[in-house]
Amino acid sequence: MPFIESFNNANTMIVGASQGIGLGFVRHLIQDTRINNIYATYRQQQTAQELIELTEEYPKKLTCIQMDISDETQIVEAVKNISAKINKLHLVINCVGLLHEGDLQPEKSLRQINPENLLRYFQINSIGAVLLAKHLLPLFRHQEPSVFAAISAKVGSIGDNQLGGWYGYRASKAALNMLMRTAAIEYGRSCPQTLVVTLHPGTTDTNLSRPFQRSVPPEKLFSVERTVSQLLTVIEKLEAGDSGQFFSWDGSKLPW
Ligand SMILES: NC(=O)c1ccc[n+]([C@@H]2O[C@H](COP(=O)([O-])OP(=O)(O)OC[C@H]3O[C@@H](n4cnc5c(N)ncnc54)[C@H](OP(=O)(O)O)[C@@H]3O)[C@@H](O)[C@H]2O)c1
Repeated sequence: MPFIESFNNANTMIVGASQGIGLGFVRHLIQDTRINNIYATYRQQQTAQELIELTEEYPKKLTCIQMDISDETQIVEAVKNISAKINKLHLVINCVGLLHEGDLQPEKSLRQINPENLLRYFQINSIGAVLLAKHLLPLFRHQEPSVFAAISAKVGSIGDNQLGGWYGYRASKAALNMLMRTAAIEYGRSCPQTLVVTLHPGTTDTNLSRPFQRSVPPEKLFSVERTVSQLLTVIEKLEAGDSGQFFSWDGSKLPW
């Protein structure tokens, strides 16, 4: 039987909701009458205008919080802010991710390896997620079925890596998978009603993938709306033993 039959009166948090898949989750969940509250985080105002406008349109249901995931003090502040209003979370989806940013571009070969860029990938794609796991744990200490998901990527699968390249992004997603798997074990002891999973969204039409879409056949490039609804289906079908697993958008399990 699915772990979460319905999210009635659920409190949710979408991390990295300014654009792309994160903003798509907010748009979808706003229309879902089972959801009571959505706490949506963004890093900078410049890219968060749509999210901020949505907050003005749905002030009761949607709250925006500024939070850079690479700064632990900002995570602590955001969690404090949420904890002042509610005492439990039922669904958290971390959608933060970095593939390219200005001069930082995915490496095609060892010649392009740059320690600072590698650290930046790990800081945003891996460490931020485990800091969230650390500070959100108290809000998952309750008896209602809950899910803490992080959006990973299939290219973070070590077993599936046939193509090479993208050293920093691949390694940081592999590290994310290990950190979430380890957190799943601890959550299993501290808040056993919460499943911790990593999810591969499939190639999705966002700013992150845009420079790399040429080689993707159109039927394999998902719209944000499609990705969001596929991932929510995977989340709703999770079963009690699924914590610590890495799922693809179609619900299949991916190799580590
Ligand atoms: N799109 C794909 O094809 C694809 C495929 C596989 C996996 N993924 C994964 O899916 C997730 C969502 O990606 P997306 O495609 O929606 O990309 P996106 O549109 O570029 O969104 C990435 C989000 O991460 C936020 N972010 C980046 N650095 C941050 C930081 N230091 N602190 C807080 N937020 C930060 C961005 O905020 P700003 O607006 O401030 O930049 C943005 O909201 C990522 O984990 C990505 O790796 C995507």
